[in-house]
Amino acid sequence: MQTRSRHCLVTGASRGLGLEFTRQLLALGERVVAACRRPAGHPALTRLAAEYPGHLHVLPLELTEARSRAELLREVEALWGRLDLLLNNAGMLVSGERFGSLEADAFRQSFETNALAPLLLAEAALPLLERGTSPCVAWLSSQLGSIARTEAFYTPSYAVSKAALNMAAKLAAAPLAERGVRSVLLHPGWVRTDMGGPAAPLEAPEAVAGMLKVIDALPAGARAPFLDYRGEPLPW
Ligand SMILES: NC(=O)c1ccc[n+]([C@@H]2O[C@H](COP(=O)([O-])OP(=O)(O)OC[C@H]3O[C@@H](n4cnc5c(N)ncnc54)[C@H](OP(=O)(O)O)[C@@H]3O)[C@@H](O)[C@H]2O)c1
Repeated sequence: MQTRSRHCLVTGASRGLGLEFTRQLLALGERVVAACRRPAGHPALTRLAAEYPGHLHVLPLELTEARSRAELLREVEALWGRLDLLLNNAGMLVSGERFGSLEADAFRQSFETNALAPLLLAEAALPLLERGTSPCVAWLSSQLGSIARTEAFYTPSYAVSKAALNMAAKLAAAPLAERGVRSVLLHPGWVRTDMGGPAAPLEAPEAVAGMLKVIDALPAGARAPFLDYRGEPLPW
């Protein structure tokens, strides 16, 4: 594990994997902006801010709103003037979808949240990332976005949006790499969070520790390989 103090931005930090990324990065000595919709509404983040004074800033982000993304990046610019790691983690899943009663809004919202907004955030963060040390964008994807692995009609709005995220990240990988920014698409495993549900076999600490190792092991010039939390490649 690298020991320098990186400047990290984590989206969707209110709970689940985003909160665990925040915890583990702080424990490693990194500096973190934890972005979430209601910064004051999460006691776990408030406790972490007290435990790591000066290292954690909890800032507002409604990922799908351009103004909110821009305001967040302005704050990061004012705080640090640079960014070493963007963890594009926030995401949503609409459950209970059935072929025969699909709702267009579920697809629109999922595409906007899971694919388009992370792409626009990474694009807008590029000037900050360019000033970072070994900068990296990590995109939280899912094996459900793997077309090669799809055999049944399951979580369609989520699966379609994560497949779109994979393409968005792959496209962005080239201009990011040209400016010295590594990137990776990560499948965290099936993890016990609000999204993963209680039957999931993996706990967030193990999934996040694995993903942080994968990020650290990424070579310079990495252009969005699609890897799981153990570093194993997934088929597109
Ligand atoms: N858990 C799994 O098994 C699993 C598997 C594969 C991939 N993933 C991916 O891993 C990432 C994290 O998943 P998770 O399990 O931690 O999910 P989670 O427990 O449902 O948490 C989702 C996070 O995203 C935030 N979020 C959603 N929409 C947002 C928006 N429009 N603006 C700002 N924040 C928003 C939520 O904020 P609020 O608290 O405000 O709602 C929350 O912090 C997601 O991208 C997910 O697709 C998870």
